[in-house]
Amino acid sequence: MNTRTSEEIASVIRTAVRAATWAPSVHNTQPWSFAVDGDEIALRADSDRKLRVGDPIGRELLVSCGAALMNVRLALRALGYEPQVRVLPDPDRPALLATVRPGAAVTADEHTRMLYAEIERRRTHRAGFTRLPVPECLLEALVAEAGGEGARLTPVRSEPAIRVFSAITCAAQDVQAQDRPLSLELIGWARPPGSPREDGVPAESYPREPRRTEPHFAQRDYARGRPWGSDADQSFSVSTGVVAVLTTKGDSRGDWLAAGQALQRILLRASAYGLSAAFHTQALEMFHLREFLRQELCSQEYPQMIMRLGITFDDSQGVRRPATEVLEER
Ligand SMILES: Cc1cc2nc3c(=O)[nH]c(=O)nc-3n(C[C@H](O)[C@H](O)[C@H](O)COP(=O)(O)O)c2cc1C
Repeated sequence: MNTRTSEEIASVIRTAVRAATWAPSVHNTQPWSFAVDGDEIALRADSDRKLRVGDPIGRELLVSCGAALMNVRLALRALGYEPQVRVLPDPDRPALLATVRPGAAVTADEHTRMLYAEIERRRTHRAGFTRLPVPECLLEALVAEAGGEGARLTPVRSEPAIRVFSAITCAAQDVQAQDRPLSLELIGWARPPGSPREDGVPAESYPREPRRTEPHFAQRDYARGRPWGSDADQSFSVSTGVVAVLTTKGDSRGDWLAAGQALQRILLRASAYGLSAAFHTQALEMFHLREFLRQELCSQEYPQMIMRLGITFDDSQGVRRPATEVLEER
């Protein structure tokens, strides 16, 4: 029996959009907007927030929006509605990435509630990890989360392969640091200390003086020589952590959205078990390096995210635009 009122539905939809805004996005660009018509949420790409230099094809934009879509799905289910999702529903409207409706009543299972509870708590890590080991059964759970969205998470076990991922990431970082248009774009998304802006990478979310790990994975240089960054104790940041790569069989816009949904399931499950993730997407923004990784290290599948997973003592705060700024109610 369906006893929902339109006020209830409106409140559920607002909660779902608020959850969506807490998704990770490349440089915290938050490249999404939501239009609500009746009980339908339309997720749209905000191309004004696309990285024209770093991500001209919009792959990272769609991965980010895929993560936001996962949050909408989780929120609806956690609030008792089976989400009815249509991905890329209209080929004539490429900016329309998905529509979601609250469908039949469901009782949220424990897994859904666990992931939903992590949405605001999860944070990106940008340093080494403690030496505490990542339990194998947890990695298996993360692999299963990715598989549930049609993507593949592969923890990289071989030392030589880890060294190649590390070397390619450092090489990509060095090349990008010389690229003036790319650097200017990055600077535009670096949020200064104490800034009131509600997007961009906060200066408090990376260490002022990062400690090197062995093998090393270069971080993005958001500070660019300025004395920005947190002074949090670095003495525990000693380990590279577990290197893992998220891949998809194809490389279409649908695959990018699937990768984003898989990524968010992985991150929320990891967060629920006290694991953090660091991302290194520099090499994936360079066609030849991405292609090299695909052929040599990803069994011909398309790499969508390179990450390190481990245990930290982080407590950095996230910044987001309020839901009212990204939500249009008709
Ligand atoms: C597609 C994508 C690519 C990203 N690439 C990087 C990266 O190369 N380096 C990095 O430090 N963070 C990267 N991030 C993480 C974002 O910077 C982060 O999600 C954003 O700043 C919001 O912060 P939060 O995840 O702590 O909420 C990436 C995130 C996404 C979704």
